[in-house]
Amino acid sequence: MTVYAIIGGSGLADLEDLRNRKSISINTPYGEPSGDIYIGDYGGREVMFLSRHGEPHRYAPHQVNYRANVWALKETGADSILAFNAVGGINHAMGAGKFCVPHDLIDYTYCRQQTFFDKDLDKVTHIDFSKPYTNELRIRLITALAAEGFDFSARGVYGCTQGPRLETAAEIIRMERDGCDIVGMTGMPEAALARELELEYACLALVVNPAAGKSSSEISMAEIESVLQVGVSNAKAVLVRLIGSDLR
Ligand code: HPA
Repeated sequence: MTVYAIIGGSGLADLEDLRNRKSISINTPYGEPSGDIYIGDYGGREVMFLSRHGEPHRYAPHQVNYRANVWALKETGADSILAFNAVGGINHAMGAGKFCVPHDLIDYTYCRQQTFFDKDLDKVTHIDFSKPYTNELRIRLITALAAEGFDFSARGVYGCTQGPRLETAAEIIRMERDGCDIVGMTGMPEAALARELELEYACLALVVNPAAGKSSSEISMAEIESVLQVGVSNAKAVLVRLIGSDLR
């Protein structure tokens, strides 16, 4: 059976319904992950959970040790990563509260540790990343979103910025021209690292605000919090549905 790991982003720092949990503290050749990995029963099977920003929220997007996180999950036995990410909406169809299961991404980050393949190399390794998300896993997410009846987009291009500041309006216009539908700060290099370790990987993105310049008012943290509150509880329902209905 597929062993799922959930990486929780902003608003999803814990999975309260993870039953009979045990925690695993693991160090890696790449340093410490964001926190302990929790393993427990979720949706009727064993699932792992890791909070991307730590618990309490300690690591800003550019400070997360993505290599340690992905490596630790693989080492603990995960086959498949379901990543939850809060994002801003660029495309007008991506309103606050909507989910998106991106099919592609553009990486605007810099100075992050991007690869496991940078030391003691027998040969240079270039992974195929033409489809950065695992399609099969995306379809499982889309099926669960449809079954729960939430508003979602089954496609989208995720633009990953460096943060921690939000973008300028001009940056968002450029990203829109590039083809980005949503913008976040934590999708990369996580997705590429999962591919390097041959893990399945898909992203459940929750739009929590209109991106910079896309609304007449400034981006409000209070508004983001209130969208997150409902959205995260919906996201948990989607994850339980996916995991509980997958018999592979
Ligand atoms: N930009 C970048 N990351 C984000 C945003 C945004 O507007 N909203 C939530 N994460």
